Amino acid sequence: MLQNVKFTNDVVQALSIILGALQPSSVLVLVDDNTRLHVLPHLKQAIGDATVICIPAGEQYKSLETVTKVWNEMIAAGATRQSVMVNLGGGTVTDLGGFVASTFKRGIRFINIPTTILGAVDAGVGGKTGIDFSGFKNEIGVFRNAESVIISSCFFNTLPIEEIKSGFAEMLKHGMLNSHDEFSRLIGTDLVKNDWINSLDIIENSVKTKQSIVTADPMEQGLRRALNLGHTVGHALESLSLKRGKPVTHGHAVACGLVTEAVLSHMTLKFPSEDLHLLATFVRDHYGAINITCKDYPSLLQFMHHDKKSRSGEINCTLLRQCGDFVIDNVVSDNEMQTALDIYRDLMGI
Ligand code: GLY
Repeated sequence: MLQNVKFTNDVVQALSIILGALQPSSVLVLVDDNTRLHVLPHLKQAIGDATVICIPAGEQYKSLETVTKVWNEMIAAGATRQSVMVNLGGGTVTDLGGFVASTFKRGIRFINIPTTILGAVDAGVGGKTGIDFSGFKNEIGVFRNAESVIISSCFFNTLPIEEIKSGFAEMLKHGMLNSHDEFSRLIGTDLVKNDWINSLDIIENSVKTKQSIVTADPMEQGLRRALNLGHTVGHALESLSLKRGKPVTHGHAVACGLVTEAVLSHMTLKFPSEDLHLLATFVRDHYGAINITCKDYPSLLQFMHHDKKSRSGEINCTLLRQCGDFVIDNVVSDNEMQTALDIYRDLMGI
């Protein structure tokens, strides 16, 4: 089923209408330290005397401890099966809030209002909820759609540039999965001059690409794995950077992952070399390389073999014949991956 996503810059009105239609027994608003301070005050008119539950900002709090704290606060507030939870924040808040709501009294309704680009184009839509557990990202969770997702670009202007770039990498991924036109439009964007953020259009196109894939395969039985484009290598680069004590944003890792997986696509599926070079130039100029040497290959390969996407220990990637024409479940050998990483280093000038 197509999830109900509302694109608007009048969040107060949209939220008031949705809550009016849902007729909840009570409203709980989940925020983090940042959105409590900077976003919540603007929504007062829509949420009235709702119970506000605040969690600390940061992925490290996407934990069972935080879930327990939120469940306890919901019980203390007298939440019932007919209550509605509004998740106001980035991916951590919508992932954790969706999970808390989906499990409280066997599931209450929730609304996502993503306040970051990453949250708007990825985490906030598509029905994946969850928390990190035992050192693994999104290890525990359920698939459950929000009643509604409200997406507004009015939150994005104040985001730090690193956060904007991080979200844009997922948009680039959606553009490559969608069509050559969409890819060309995105790599024509000047990320630093952030006037593009105010155009809900560009965000809407991105969300629609994700929605069309998720609608066809909500539980990730096959087609949804297309959304892993760039992520097999991206997650390995993200994990390596973390292990080195020099963490990079998710989007930076995905951008470099997209380049490496475009190299693999060129090697195995004849992805056009012209588009590969355009992509690599865009990523090099806007994100910069994540520096690796061939001494890092064994660690990177190890991360890739242990990735969630791997079925039985093989390296598994989504690749492209061309923009808009993807192939899921490509098994990549260690040799092919090492060659692709060599070419990534050349293209990124390292
Ligand atoms: N982030 C990929 C997905 O939602 O499937």
